[in-house]
Amino acid sequence: MYDLRPETPADMPEVEALLDLCFAPGRTALSSYRLREGVDPVGPLCLTLRNEFGVLVGAIRYWPVQIGGQPVLLLGPVAVHPTTQGEGLGGLLMRESLNRATGMGWSRVMLVGDLPYYQRFGFNKLEDVEMPPPTNPDRVLGIELVPGAWAGIRGTVERAIDPQAQSGPDAPRHSG
Ligand SMILES: CC(C)(COP(=O)(O)OP(=O)(O)OC[C@H]1O[C@@H](n2cnc3c(N)ncnc32)[C@H](O)[C@@H]1OP(=O)(O)O)[C@@H](O)C(=O)NCCC(=O)NCCS
Repeated sequence: MYDLRPETPADMPEVEALLDLCFAPGRTALSSYRLREGVDPVGPLCLTLRNEFGVLVGAIRYWPVQIGGQPVLLLGPVAVHPTTQGEGLGGLLMRESLNRATGMGWSRVMLVGDLPYYQRFGFNKLEDVEMPPPTNPDRVLGIELVPGAWAGIRGTVERAIDPQAQSGPDAPRHSG
């Protein structure tokens, strides 16, 4: 039995330790971390997964970014403890958070990662979107939560400095 719930400030040390365990040293030097600096994550989409003993086994986080002034969700990092990898927990975190993002009114999500893993959730390579260097363009992936949401979105990914973009979605159904 697993307990999935939004990350709280009390979870942060454990989540950071899990990320340190799952990623190579120097992860915070990646360009995606520059896009997150000084920007609040999207709280309701940052999820923790604990086992029946309360041990943190997985986590996922999201930040707002923008491309050409349009709001985009940046997925990541996502990590599952090495002892529980391959049991579908990564898939659970991905699907649950993407469902919640859709429910919040977000229309497009991007990430930097391995297409062979993320294509099972519907991600494809984004041809017209550039991450700040150094990023392998083949790893810049996106998914539409609303059909056509990536049409015409092109350019460099930038920090979400617009409070409207930070608060989230661009879809009209978003109320807040
Ligand atoms: C990537 C990660 C979150 C997946 O979590 P998980 O719980 O193991 O994933 P699931 O159990 O849902 O899926 C496992 C499947 O994904 C595959 N997979 C995992 N990572 C993969 C990758 N980088 N590329 C291709 N396939 C991958 C596994 O081989 C397995 O395939 P199978 O279903 O054919 O057996 C986890 O492996 C992890 O934390 N890795 C280290 C951190 C990391 O790389 N995060 C992603 C950044 S790009």
